[in-house]
Amino acid sequence: MNRDKIAPIGVLTISDRVSRGEYEDRGGPAVQQWLQSRFQGPRRFELRSVPDEVEQVTENLQQMARICALVVTTGGTGIGPRDITPEAMKEACHAFLPGFGEKMRASSWQTVPTAILSRATAGLVDRCLVINLPGHPRAIGECMDAIWPAIPHAIEIIGGSLGETIDAAADPHSSEDSNRR
Ligand code: MTE
Repeated sequence: MNRDKIAPIGVLTISDRVSRGEYEDRGGPAVQQWLQSRFQGPRRFELRSVPDEVEQVTENLQQMARICALVVTTGGTGIGPRDITPEAMKEACHAFLPGFGEKMRASSWQTVPTAILSRATAGLVDRCLVINLPGHPRAIGECMDAIWPAIPHAIEIIGGSLGETIDAAADPHSSEDSNRR
């Protein structure tokens, strides 16, 4: 497959301090590295960082959704006064997939009790799947490991493609579908 024809994967770091240059962005590159490991060849990524402002997060999600089939955000999902990622999701998404957040919290909380403080969710912006992850770099692998099996199929359902992944879960319904046809 010609990789230039495959949409880039969006990674949006949501952090006042990263966007002001006070902290190095560790979350965005960690998301990129985790996702890249799911593909044989190099993938294109669109990495951005924005402050914790509803308008800027919403605008960037909408812009990235025009060019990406998948956008993963990191940060701003908690309960601090500046944590507004879920509020921006409400503005940007026309449908929500609460199962992603439920799965992340359920799989993390026994080792990380504060996992239940994350309001991370997932949703659709046009034909793009947007998934929120907490900001801590350690949370990225823990959460992505839990939810990855559903991601390629979700993107396929909404008419997009991630290209070939090395461990794509087979569509559990594909044999039923072909029997029905
Ligand atoms: N989930 C996992 N798997 N690992 C973590 O380290 N950190 C928690 C939680 N979820 C964490 C996690 C903490 S401490 C917070 S405050 C919330 O995510 C929200 O983080 P955020 O505001 O950086 O998005």
